[in-house]
Amino acid sequence: MNKQPQTDRIIIFDTTLRDGEQCPGATLNVDEKLVIARQLARLGVDVIEAGFAFASPGDFEAVEKIAKAVGTEDGPVICSLARAIKADIQAAAAAIKPAAKGRIHTFISTSDIHLEYQLKKSKAEVLAIAEEMVAYAKSFVDDVEFSTMDATRTDPEYLYQVLERAIAAGATTINIPDTVGYTTPSEFGALIKGIKDNVPNIDQAIISVHGHNDIGLAVANFLEAVKNGARQLECAINGIGERAGNTALEEVVMALHVRRQYYNPFLGRPVESEAPLTNIDTRQIYKTSRLVSNLTGMLVQPNKAIVGANAFAHESGIHQDGVLKNRLTYEIMDAQSIGLTENQIVLGKHSGRNAFRTRLRELGFELSETELNKAFIRFKELADKKKEISDWDLEAIANDETQQT
Ligand code: KIV
Ligand code: ZN
Repeated sequence: MNKQPQTDRIIIFDTTLRDGEQCPGATLNVDEKLVIARQLARLGVDVIEAGFAFASPGDFEAVEKIAKAVGTEDGPVICSLARAIKADIQAAAAAIKPAAKGRIHTFISTSDIHLEYQLKKSKAEVLAIAEEMVAYAKSFVDDVEFSTMDATRTDPEYLYQVLERAIAAGATTINIPDTVGYTTPSEFGALIKGIKDNVPNIDQAIISVHGHNDIGLAVANFLEAVKNGARQLECAINGIGERAGNTALEEVVMALHVRRQYYNPFLGRPVESEAPLTNIDTRQIYKTSRLVSNLTGMLVQPNKAIVGANAFAHESGIHQDGVLKNRLTYEIMDAQSIGLTENQIVLGKHSGRNAFRTRLRELGFELSETELNKAFIRFKELADKKKEISDWDLEAIANDETQQT
């Protein structure tokens, strides 16, 4: 029996350029996609879903160019999406051909509601199509991923049957999409466990998950899936994508990184292991986020986890004081770990004396106690009028006070 090696790292499959781009206003041209793909390779993603080759000549060209330029022997796997239709699979196969490691990702819906209203096909028909199209994709490449669209609203018994047949036909990765962002962490975990327990040939494939964030649970759902055996996570930078977006890559990767001791046992490792759970170079995260935001024009909300402008900024006096004494008091991860040079203490009306004095020292001012007291009073007065105090404001106050004494 052809047993698929179970990886001891979590495979990160990036779909920024396919599902991520599929949201209003985020369209990218071929050159922009290539720039992002190169950065995704530097970030260390294992698989880049570069597009949907059959969808348009532009998408085909982007997948092909990325396959050629980024899909090198030691680079990521380059993947194209394809419906379970021969013409789609042919286009995907042709577009990924220049890649050293190419993957065809084919999919079909399996939920009753999709079968009745969208596909207008019976369960038996879909089962036969899935099997036939996976085998067809396999005639082009060894690496075939198969997705059961709307899996989280599919009858589990039927889902198990479709997955078993797809694996038997040659799928090396089976992907479980929460297409409409409907599931909850405990439900999703139970679904992955059900698949492990009820699909007889499941050991021959990697279990992958694909999430949407409609009710804000995409990252939590993935973490529960990992605990139950998922080994590939499909996500997008800054969580961009259809409707409320795809699972945010930076969030799920940093959750696994920060809490690696908690997740180690689920990957069969000792709790204390410090080995990374993914191949991501986390120091590339911030740069990748800025690049995707700039090229897509999709702004990142300031309070967004990991990459928001305020994610490492401390404004309250108590927090600033704590961080200055020992960062671990209010920081669970280091700003440097995502590629920021330092955490940013934002001075405002809640800031305390310690943060104020420290920033002045950083700006080159060593004030006496009397000068500092006066300067601090003026700073507080200004902070009541302005939301954030800039270094220019601080320099003006400090200059004033030192000249008066
Ligand atoms: O959300 C979804 O179901 C998808 C599939 C094509 C994997 O994007
Ligand atoms: Zn999707």
